[in-house]
Amino acid sequence: MPVLNYEFDTLKVRGGYNPKEHNNAVSVPIYATTSFEFRGTERAKKLIGFTEFGYVYSRVGNPTVGVLEQRIASLHDAAAAIAVGSGMAAITYALLNVAEKGGRILATSELYGGTVDGFKKVFPNYGIKIDIVNNSKDPEQFRKAIKADTKAIYVESISNPNAILVDIEAIANIAHENGIPLIVDNTLATPYLLNPIKYGADIVIYSATKALSGHGNVIAGLIVESGKFNFKSDKFPQFLETYHILRDSSGNPRSFVDVFPEFPFTARVRSNYLAYYGATLGAFDAYLVLLGIETLSERVKKQVSNAEKIVKYLETKKEVAWVKYPTAKESPYKKLKDKYLPKGAGSTFSFGIDGTLEQIDKFIDSLKIFSYQANIGDARSLIVNPPKTTHSELTPEEQKLAGIPPETIRLSLGLEDENDLIEDLEQAFRKVFL
Ligand SMILES: Cc1ncc(COP(=O)(O)O)c(C=O)c1O
Repeated sequence: MPVLNYEFDTLKVRGGYNPKEHNNAVSVPIYATTSFEFRGTERAKKLIGFTEFGYVYSRVGNPTVGVLEQRIASLHDAAAAIAVGSGMAAITYALLNVAEKGGRILATSELYGGTVDGFKKVFPNYGIKIDIVNNSKDPEQFRKAIKADTKAIYVESISNPNAILVDIEAIANIAHENGIPLIVDNTLATPYLLNPIKYGADIVIYSATKALSGHGNVIAGLIVESGKFNFKSDKFPQFLETYHILRDSSGNPRSFVDVFPEFPFTARVRSNYLAYYGATLGAFDAYLVLLGIETLSERVKKQVSNAEKIVKYLETKKEVAWVKYPTAKESPYKKLKDKYLPKGAGSTFSFGIDGTLEQIDKFIDSLKIFSYQANIGDARSLIVNPPKTTHSELTPEEQKLAGIPPETIRLSLGLEDENDLIEDLEQAFRKVFL
């Protein structure tokens, strides 16, 4: 189906899928096959030489996964997308792809703990250094921190767990003035609440494990490419490098920008990372993500409403020391929220309990509805203590820098009735503090 000119809610159930190409199946079929018939040596030659595009082997491409890739690209009005086996694979592949010849990534300190830990453990071994901007509220800090070998800026549009926002448009402008792309992890916002490409982001990343799939039943990642950033630059020699596998009909080797001028970034992730590091998303898992996306707007709308109500409730509690969410009374992010997230700032936020660590543990153990576990963006409401779990890889200094003191509790609001959720929190407060 042609994807242009349709609204988000139409694209989320129909984008990137043409039933006529799939035996008229109404629901996207699950292609449980490792490989695809070449149908003759002539066609095999064309497929392998990229003069005809088609599926060969499911490690690098599969029709069910392909529909997910095209659907997510259509939801961003983007040139292309690639699905991978997890959000971490999406982050790691994207950052290696942009900086693999050595260089720097400039990032904020307010990021998912696994990302920060990867910055320490993985990237330095590949010659990639990570520079951190400590005051992400001031976009000029990014300009000051860019060095000659900085290859990209990396931010979370809504940070995990403190729901910190950044001025995407201002940071994108600074990145582009310096000839580098802006990479945005948009996991907490989802494309329903925010399309970062509209504000200049070049690459958008998702842990589709979270609200995109939305039911806590699949691990998946996505990389979306706007198609607007020019990778044909001396700063990115890896995109100019020619490969025998990309040869033209006369056998001359070509580069990724030659063969895939509209989406060299995701094409290169597929050929050089998905193919050899191999974190492939399975067809059934892609189907689960597609199924989740069909109800994305409806779910996120209700989850945002639940989050805003719970924030208001927590602000009335004397046992709560602080609440970090863009609609909270003290939030410094109200203006950014109005600009970038008019429909809401997601369903995940943090608050601090004014009590001992034992009381915080008892509070968590007293809850009856909220599930105590490490995920976010589920249809069920979730609770976790990040300093001891999701962000436990961070040293005490890094936790301090990331704004996650020991009393931090993270909530991810699901689809339950808001009064039941409030009563669950209330009874836990009663049990601990009365
Ligand atoms: C913002 C963000 N990005 C990336 C990830 C990693 O995603 P995954 O668990 O799918 O690898 C997470 C996981 O919590 C996350 O919260």
